[in-house]
Amino acid sequence: DWTPSAFVEETVEDLKNKLGDDKVVLGLSGGVDSSVAAMLLHRAIGKNLYCIFVNNGLLRKNEFEDVLHQYADMGLNVKGVDASARFLDALAGKSDPEEKRKIIGRVFIEVFDDEAHLIKNVKWLAQGTIYPDVIESVSATGGPSATIKSHHNVGGLPDFMKLKVVEPLKALFKDEVRRVGTSMNMDSHLLGRHPFPGPGLAIRILGDLTPEKVRILQEVDAIFINNLRSWNLYDKVWQAGAMLLPVNSVGVMGDERTYEKCVALRAVESTDGMTADWVNLPYEFLQKTSNEIINKVKGVNRVVYDISSKPPATIEWE
Ligand code: XMP
Repeated sequence: DWTPSAFVEETVEDLKNKLGDDKVVLGLSGGVDSSVAAMLLHRAIGKNLYCIFVNNGLLRKNEFEDVLHQYADMGLNVKGVDASARFLDALAGKSDPEEKRKIIGRVFIEVFDDEAHLIKNVKWLAQGTIYPDVIESVSATGGPSATIKSHHNVGGLPDFMKLKVVEPLKALFKDEVRRVGTSMNMDSHLLGRHPFPGPGLAIRILGDLTPEKVRILQEVDAIFINNLRSWNLYDKVWQAGAMLLPVNSVGVMGDERTYEKCVALRAVESTDGMTADWVNLPYEFLQKTSNEIINKVKGVNRVVYDISSKPPATIEWE
C-alpha cells in the first residue's frame, strides 16, 4: 500500500538516477503541485534544479514577494522574474476573456523561454502535472504547466519545450500530492492553498484591464481572503475570490453622491472544479467583510455575493 514517505524516498532515488548531474528548469506558480514537484526535485538534485517564478502582475496582493521568500526559505534555487509591465502592456485594451487568456499564455511562454535560455546547458523541463491533468490533458486549475500545454502551438515550439520532460507527480491525485508535501515538512499554508487560475485576476476583472483595476481587486480580494482565514472559514471553502464588475452604481458618502465600482464575492465548495456549489457563508461574516471593503477600498461602493452554482454558472466570471 501507498505511503507518502515511501513515495518520497523512491521518487527521490529515481530522480537521482534519471537526472544525474543534468540541469533542470521548472516554473513555479505558487500553487501546490509545482511547489511539491520542486521540493522532490530539490531533494534529488539540489542546486541543479533552476526554479523560475514569474510575476504576471495578476497575482494576489503581496503574493509574489511572500511566496518567493517562502520558496527561498525552503532552500530552493529560485529566481523571481517580475514581468508585470510586460503582461499588462500586452493586455491593454483587450476585453475578450479568451483573448486575454491567449495573451497571458503567450507572454508567459516568452518570459519563461528568455529565462530558460539564461541557464547554460539545461537538459530537462520539470512540470507539476498530476494524474487528473494527464487524463484531461489540460488542467482545469493548473498554473504554468497548464498554460504551457494549451498554448504550445503559437509560432512554433519555444526552445524550452524541446527539452526532455520530467513529471514526478504524474501518477498522483491532489490529496496525495498534499500528503507528499506534508511528509517533506512543507508549510501547511502552502499545501492548503485554494486553487488559483493561471490567468489570475485577469479573468476576475470583467472587460479590459488597467493597473488601477488590478490594484482595486487585489485590495478587495485580500480583505475577503484574510477574513476567511480569521473566521476559520478558509479551509471549509474549496475556492474563493472577488470579481470586479464592469458597472458603476450610485451610492452616497456623507452628503455626496458617488458613482463607483461594484465587486462580487464568490466562495464555492467543490471536489474538482467541474461542478460547484456556492458556500453559505454566515451573514455576519458577509456584513463585516462588505463594510470593510467599502470603507477601505477607494473606488468601490457596492459589494454583492454570488449565489449561483456550477452548472449553469461557472466558478470564474470570465
Ligand atoms: P470555471 O470558471 O470554468 O473554473 O468554472 C473551474 C476551475 O478552473 C479554474 N480556471 C482556470 N485555471 N486557467 C487556469 O489555470 C484558466 O484559464 C482557467 N479558467 C478557470 C477556476 O479558477 C476553477 O478552479
